[in-house]
Amino acid sequence: MAKPFVRQVILRLLGGVTLLSRLSGMVLHRRKVRMSKSQSHIIAFYDRHPISCGQILEKLRATRGGLEGLVPADLFAHDQDHYGGLTANDALAERAGIGAGSLVADFCAGLGGPARYLAHRYGASVVGLELNAGRATGAAALNRLVGLQRKVWMLRADVMYAPLATARADAVISQEALLHIPDKPAALAEAFRVLKGGGRLVFTDWVVHQALETLESAAMWQGIGAQSLQRLQDYDALLRRAGFEVLAVEDLTADWAGILAERFAMYRRLRQETLDAGLPSGDEAFYQAYARLVASVQAGTLGGGRFTAVKP
Ligand SMILES: C[S@@+](CC[C@H](N)C(=O)[O-])C[C@H]1O[C@@H](n2cnc3c(N)ncnc32)[C@H](O)[C@@H]1O
Repeated sequence: MAKPFVRQVILRLLGGVTLLSRLSGMVLHRRKVRMSKSQSHIIAFYDRHPISCGQILEKLRATRGGLEGLVPADLFAHDQDHYGGLTANDALAERAGIGAGSLVADFCAGLGGPARYLAHRYGASVVGLELNAGRATGAAALNRLVGLQRKVWMLRADVMYAPLATARADAVISQEALLHIPDKPAALAEAFRVLKGGGRLVFTDWVVHQALETLESAAMWQGIGAQSLQRLQDYDALLRRAGFEVLAVEDLTADWAGILAERFAMYRRLRQETLDAGLPSGDEAFYQAYARLVASVQAGTLGGGRFTAVKP
């Protein structure tokens, strides 16, 4: 065991937290964080992504005139990098049984938007695991900015090797991220390991309804970093193989068709704004792939799914 003082310094470096935080028992500081080899493309993709901590701060400065006195709700219009915004978070929270005092792990937490929302709205304590260093540090900075650093921790980590203690979490959530994971069984096994018995995993992800052409798969890899896409029934089988009991598999494709078209329009607006501000703005492959995504979801080839499972 590290000495208490050393532990406290490590914890402060990780996000300005104290040993009083409920989260301290969940994080394995001494576990070496490993990265799989195929992650550099995904990291580079998110380094260029038009939604970034810098872009959010720029937007807030422009709309509020400064960053003083920010509260969590000031960020919610900007920091949710998934479809359906806060409504989607509520759907996850309800299915996962998240409430005051819940210990939650957010797999692939991005800029920490859903994690902060669950802490603020439901009183949960959340640890977010995020592969991209800029996003992990950006999320920690946003936590501090709105005073949630004791309720939300961000760790730079690969969810295939979650640096979390076994059987401590009440819930694991994830949104639109498992498409990036090369070894989905490994990530699901980690979710299973960190959950308490009776704890729930609830996640949304892209799914495929019809086999993609090779060219289409290549565009999905270049444009949105999709390592592989599952069918709804594939995730059902993977969850069972990881030891979960599957409670619900929901097809979100019809909902996503409208949401995606709006989101694409939002990305296009952001592209100009971020270019003007000299911030990452996404590259041409991203915008071209996104246009194909919208068409594929509207045609029913691709879509979204929400999965609810429990650790027996
Ligand atoms: C579409 S974003 C979703 C972010 C967040 N869930 C949200 O809803 O705002 C996907 C995130 O997954 C992260 N990611 C990709 N592969 C990962 C991995 N192996 N481990 C942890 N995070 C990963 C990406 O860096 C990115 O921030």
